[in-house]
Amino acid sequence: MTQSRYRGVGHGSMHGVRIAGSGVALPERRLTNADLEAMMDTSDEWITQRTGIRERRMIDRENRGECTLTLSVNAVQTALKSASIRAKDVELVVLATMTPEMPCPQTSSRVVDLIGATPAGGWDLTAACCGFVFGLNSAAAMIHAGMYKTIALIGADTLTKHMEYNDHGRASAILFGDGAGAIVLTADTDTSKGVIAQSMHSDGGQWEHLYIPEHVTDSPDASTPVDPSQFDKLVMNGRAVFKFAVTTFSNLIAETLDKAGMNPEDVDHYVCHQSNARILESSRERFGLPQEKLHVNIDRFGNTVAASVPIVYQELVDAGKIHEGQRVMFLGFGGGLTWGSSLWQM
Ligand code: ACO
Repeated sequence: MTQSRYRGVGHGSMHGVRIAGSGVALPERRLTNADLEAMMDTSDEWITQRTGIRERRMIDRENRGECTLTLSVNAVQTALKSASIRAKDVELVVLATMTPEMPCPQTSSRVVDLIGATPAGGWDLTAACCGFVFGLNSAAAMIHAGMYKTIALIGADTLTKHMEYNDHGRASAILFGDGAGAIVLTADTDTSKGVIAQSMHSDGGQWEHLYIPEHVTDSPDASTPVDPSQFDKLVMNGRAVFKFAVTTFSNLIAETLDKAGMNPEDVDHYVCHQSNARILESSRERFGLPQEKLHVNIDRFGNTVAASVPIVYQELVDAGKIHEGQRVMFLGFGGGLTWGSSLWQM
């Protein structure tokens, strides 16, 4: 590969990387728009028109013991099975999540234990809805560099626990669902395989558009302390996030194609974070992408934060649409604000 003038392009390394297996785990319980109608002043029509969402999944911690940890374990075990790789061969588990079980220990270490991969490394990575894409770039770079051979990457979130299912919280509560998706990355002797171009961006100056306060001082406006009743509840300026996302998302695709020296049609699949069907449609229109190249499943799962990208990927795998030799672009944006991409040669 020739030296590029761009940062974040190509690996030029002695080690290729491939996605050897994948899996998802979803809570049993479905939360439909009709369920939400019974809890708050909203309607199926409003939700469907504004977001494209019809139902989402929700953990049941009390009765089923579902949580970020259990979903992560289930997803990664399925991914390992599909890759025919033993847990004890995993050297590092990267868990992208903004809803870990506790600040300490990191949830990934418990995943390592429960799958039987001890003493593999466990690393929790927080970048909201971008977490999986940031994890993909980081894990691939470690394998491209020859430092690791097998890394399990999980995107898992249970953001419904930070929602208010009432009129006050309706603008956010309708959006989010719970879930997990995982992939197993391994070194490959074919050095053309792996990340062709990537990017990881953030703008902390816009943090106040999406945050979860935990203290009275966690307010963007110092003169208005946070009411303790709002601790642990997601605060979102939906209109501002939408405006940011609709432009940034398309620019991100353009930037990544530019880095790789490719045209939109050179990419076989755009595996995108699912936050709003309208945001995805606007990117599809800008680049003239056919529907089958930019898969949308938000209608069934809502916004599952770091899990949305691997859940889309798994649907493509299940449908037999992912093949060796294809180019796949993974894309995310979210709280932080963050946005990032990972373009792969499969
Ligand atoms: N049901 C009915 N009406 C509602 C609801 C609801 N659930 N929520 C808000 N409304 C009302 C508002 O009160 C407002 O009423 P008003 O005009 O009388 O004031 C009206 O609907 C319009 O509200 P907007 O906020 O302007 O609605 P908008 O068209 O922007 O849609 C939405 C809101 C769906 C949240 C949209 O802005 C969006 O999808 N934004 C992106 C959010 C996002 O992607 N967040 C996740 C980022 S990823 C991460 O990192 C976690």
